[in-house]
Amino acid sequence: MKIIVLGSAAGGGFPQWNCNCRNCNGQRNGTINATARTQSSIAVSSNGTDWALINASPDILTQIRNTPALQPNRNKRDTGIAAVVLMDAQIDHVTGLLMLREGKQLPLYCTPAVWDDLTTGLPLMHVLSHYCGVQWHPLPTNQFDQHTAVHIPGIEGIRFTPLALKSKAPPYSPHREQPQAGDNLGLIIEDIATGKKLFYAPGLGQIEPHIDAAMQAADCLLVDGTLWTEDEMITLGFSKKKSADMGHLPQSGNGGMIEVLDAIDGPRKILIHINNTNPILDADSHERAVLTQHGIEVAFDGMEITL
Ligand code: MLT
Ligand code: MN
Ligand code: ZN
Repeated sequence: MKIIVLGSAAGGGFPQWNCNCRNCNGQRNGTINATARTQSSIAVSSNGTDWALINASPDILTQIRNTPALQPNRNKRDTGIAAVVLMDAQIDHVTGLLMLREGKQLPLYCTPAVWDDLTTGLPLMHVLSHYCGVQWHPLPTNQFDQHTAVHIPGIEGIRFTPLALKSKAPPYSPHREQPQAGDNLGLIIEDIATGKKLFYAPGLGQIEPHIDAAMQAADCLLVDGTLWTEDEMITLGFSKKKSADMGHLPQSGNGGMIEVLDAIDGPRKILIHINNTNPILDADSHERAVLTQHGIEVAFDGMEITL
């Protein structure tokens, strides 16, 4: 199977429209070694023609233009996107659905918790019902050792296993402070023929035992790379929120993502959903060198992974 990183940045993208942090300014002025990134999304296919879009970023139109494989020419109107799968109801993962309104009814895979947000706090589903409409396929919220795989018609040869995990519902969500199983998912994406597995979790706040097990069993990890430090947004003066308040495990520090990944032998390790403040975006930074020492890569828009 083939995975394309459509967008590797967190909410706001990189550089962020209103941000003059060292990274955003440096990228604009060309004074740091960093490439621009769009907001968080990947596409997965086994045949290279029919794709599952995992998350629908507000940058989706740009991402489609940059990815010819997503735009086949079989009919007067056509798309390679056969279905959309949502990891959560965050704005950077769902608002691209509005940009798909000119197409046919969209098969949409998300948990009841996410569906609830998208019909209440951010009622995109009601809005879309006046355009293309969506056909909702509820995703199970597997925890611990339960692993219910999902087959997506049109995406043959790939098995999707959603895993409930601890991150955060969006700020607008009625569940923001009352977490529900299914607010946030990780996804095991398995090529049935080769048995190779990708574990994808762009928002990952805590490594529970069933998540650790899924990570250990994967051939490639594509996981939360939002922030370098727990207090990055506070230190830079952008927010009062710690990384944990936003449901993201930072890379550095005790119990951080570098330590977590160090304890896992075997899979290729890639960070995704990178916030514009994160020093790892500068390819010449000390922090990027630390990642490289630990065998950890940083996703970029257009990155292709074959498993
Ligand atoms: C998050 O994951 O916390 C988001 O990137 C926030 C956002 O979309 O603004
Ligand atoms: Mn996000
Ligand atoms: Zn910035």
